[in-house]
Amino acid sequence: MIRPADLIEQKRNGGEHSPDDLVELILAYARGEVPDYQMAAWCMAVYFRGLTATETDALTDAMVRSGETLDLGAALGRTVVDKHSTGGVGDKTSIAVGPIVAACGVPLGKMSGRGLGHTGGTLDKLESIPGYRVELTIEEFVAQLREVGMAIVGQTADLVPADKKLYALRDVTATVDVDPLIASSIMSKKLAAGADAVVLDVKVGDGAFLRTLEEGRALAEQMRQIGVRAGRAVTCLLTDMDQPLGRAVGNALEVDEARDTVRGDGPGDFTELVLDASARLLALSDLGIDVAEGRRKAEEAVANGSALDTYERWIRAQGGDPDPAALERAPIRRPVPAPRDGFVTRLGARAIGNVALELGAGRRTKTDEIDHAVGVLCFAKRGDTVLAGDDLAEVHARDDVSAETAVAGVLAAYELGDEAPPERGILLDVVA
Ligand code: URA
Repeated sequence: MIRPADLIEQKRNGGEHSPDDLVELILAYARGEVPDYQMAAWCMAVYFRGLTATETDALTDAMVRSGETLDLGAALGRTVVDKHSTGGVGDKTSIAVGPIVAACGVPLGKMSGRGLGHTGGTLDKLESIPGYRVELTIEEFVAQLREVGMAIVGQTADLVPADKKLYALRDVTATVDVDPLIASSIMSKKLAAGADAVVLDVKVGDGAFLRTLEEGRALAEQMRQIGVRAGRAVTCLLTDMDQPLGRAVGNALEVDEARDTVRGDGPGDFTELVLDASARLLALSDLGIDVAEGRRKAEEAVANGSALDTYERWIRAQGGDPDPAALERAPIRRPVPAPRDGFVTRLGARAIGNVALELGAGRRTKTDEIDHAVGVLCFAKRGDTVLAGDDLAEVHARDDVSAETAVAGVLAAYELGDEAPPERGILLDVVA
């Protein structure tokens, strides 16, 4: 039996744990046999000393083994794909990518979380659709994947319980931003959820927890390596999160925008990311095609309406009403006029996210209720030209007071200048 204090000391002194010791530590913690204070000390030692690739694999393996695991490929007799994002402002990518990929004949099964922050997680966004059930049994999840080709559900309580416990501890001990801990936390959930191939969207910039491309590349490489060593195909996209993704920030507004994109009427940056991620998922699937052919197929599914049809079948299969008119709308809509002529040189993602949070679109604590209807539509994005009085954005609010505050906040998030900013596409790099 390991002594946690010995492992803390070993890591504090820069030593390397044996895989067996590390697995035992994590499983003992998950069973409640190691107290939080010792685990917190270990996480802090890892913050300063890091983990080797072998240790990171052992940690990931232990997390996966702490709960139930699925093998979707075996259940369906097909390669099942999954997509994950490290999170950003206006990120509704999975809601559009899923139906496109499924319409191309590739099953996409995703277990999603809620999370704290400016808007809800994917589950909260989907819950703005009246009737949508996020909780399916494993049998229902697999059956829906077989019949409709896609499902997005809540993570079951039994999936990677060690991560749930460890993440909550890291959250309050300043040990969230530790690459090997983030990489194993994200990848253990992907591995346990049972897809064979994963596209990871690693967000970089002002509205993401990774601020620089170098930080993003390092984390992407670690996650990819964990996946590859576990026998999964993984492609990481590094994408821009200096400004919100697309126009919509806010749960129901984002669902509406994802649906628009599935039918070929989405904003440029979001459409580009959705088609690129879809193409790469198709290239990792059992269709035996490359990324260029995947892109062609994804574009075709949007153009011929099969992606929209799959979207509607998916939402109905999970009990929801896919009609956009069914989404709840906020009672107050306020335009945000441009104070001058010029180019949009900056649109702060974090600032817009905070406005959405203040409006009620997100939660600060786990128990906060989300207002699905409120949010912001950012019509003008970086590089656009505007004339004084043009609508830069539109605030969707529950009441006049919050609308006024939000209009001021959105205005402060925009910078207008006389020169166009350097062009920067949504896709910054690919680690494959
Ligand atoms: N998201 C996760 O799931 N885990 C982390 O550690 C960080 C972000």
